[in-house]
Amino acid sequence: MNVDLKTDLFGIILKSPLILGSGPLSYNAQGMISAYKAGAGAVVTKTIRDQAAINPYPHMAISGRNTMINAEKWSDISAEMWVEQEIPKAKEAGVVVIASIGHTTGEVMNWAAAVDGAGADMIELVSYRQEMVVPMVRKAKELTSALAALDQGADGVTAMDSIGPVLRIDIRSGRPLLGSEKGHGWLTGSAIKPIILRYVAEVAGQTDKPIIGIGGVVTAEDVVEMLMAGAAAVGLCTAAILKGVAYLTRLNREIKKLLIELKYESPASLCGAALSNLCRQEVHDRFTFRFNQRSCTGVYGLRQGLSLSGQESHRARGR
Ligand SMILES: Cc1cc2nc3c(=O)[nH]c(=O)nc-3n(C[C@H](O)[C@H](O)[C@H](O)COP(=O)(O)O)c2cc1C
Repeated sequence: MNVDLKTDLFGIILKSPLILGSGPLSYNAQGMISAYKAGAGAVVTKTIRDQAAINPYPHMAISGRNTMINAEKWSDISAEMWVEQEIPKAKEAGVVVIASIGHTTGEVMNWAAAVDGAGADMIELVSYRQEMVVPMVRKAKELTSALAALDQGADGVTAMDSIGPVLRIDIRSGRPLLGSEKGHGWLTGSAIKPIILRYVAEVAGQTDKPIIGIGGVVTAEDVVEMLMAGAAAVGLCTAAILKGVAYLTRLNREIKKLLIELKYESPASLCGAALSNLCRQEVHDRFTFRFNQRSCTGVYGLRQGLSLSGQESHRARGR
C-alpha cells in the first residue's frame, strides 16, 4: 500500500502533516530550518510582538512523562529581526513558514503586513482573550495582500495551546519549579492531549475550515488520534523539545507505518474519521461488563470489591 504524508493546508502542500508549533525550537531561522530538514511540514515562528520578551528563570521544567510546564513568553528577538532576517532566511532554505503574531490588534496592525512581505506563507494569530480574536483576524485580513481576497474571518483554527496557569513545587526546597510570578506556568505535552482532542472534535463539528490540532502529541498514535478528531494537520512542541528535532524524522516514519497498518492512504483520508462515532447521547449497552474480583487491584476496588471507576461501579452493581 502506498502511503503519502503530503498534506494540503490552505492550498499549500506540506511534505508531512507535522507542524513544529511556536516555541523555543523555532526561536530563529536556524531553529526553523533544522526542524524543516528533520521532517516538519511547516514551522511556526516564536510569537512575534512589539517588544522582545525577557523570560523568568527557570522558565521550563519537566512535569511527568512527556509533559512540561513553562513560563516562556513570546519571542526574545525583535519583530524587526524576524521581518528583516529570520523569515527571509527560513524562506530561502525552503521552509514553509507560519508567522505567529500576538497578542493584540495593535500588534497585528504593526506586523501582519510586514511578515507577509517578508515571505511568510501563513499567519497564526495568538490571543488569550476571546474578545480580541475577531478584531485581530479582521485587521490581519485587511492588511495582508495574500489574504485580502479571501472572505473575512479566519481561514482556519489552531486548537489550541498550553493549559493553565498551573503550579509545581520542588518538595526538597519548597520552591516553585518555575521562576515566574507566583511560580505559575502552562502545562503542555501528554497530560493535555485529551483536553485538546475534545476541543478539536468540537470545533471540527462546527466548521469545515482546516484545524491544526496541537497539544500533547508525542507518538504516531497521537497524530492519528488528532487527525481522527478532525485535525487537518498536527502541531507539536513539547515532544520536539524533550526528544530533539531529529525525532520528527522518526515520527514521520512511524506515522507512515501506522497508516499502512490501519489502511489509510494519507493523513487527509483520516481527517475527522472518528467524528461520526461521537454519539449525541450516552451509550449503555455497547460493552458487556464482567466483574472479576481477583483481577481487582485498585484501592477503591479493594474496598468495594470492584476495580472500576465510581460511575462504572454503580452501573455494574445495578445489574
Ligand atoms: C517552552 C514553550 C514555549 C512556547 N512558546 C509559545 C509561543 O511563543 N507562542 C505560542 O503561540 N505558543 C507557544 N507555546 C505553545 C506551543 O506552541 C503549543 O501550542 C503547546 O505547547 C501545546 O503543544 P505540545 O503539547 O505539543 O507542546 C510554547 C510552548 C512551550 C512548551
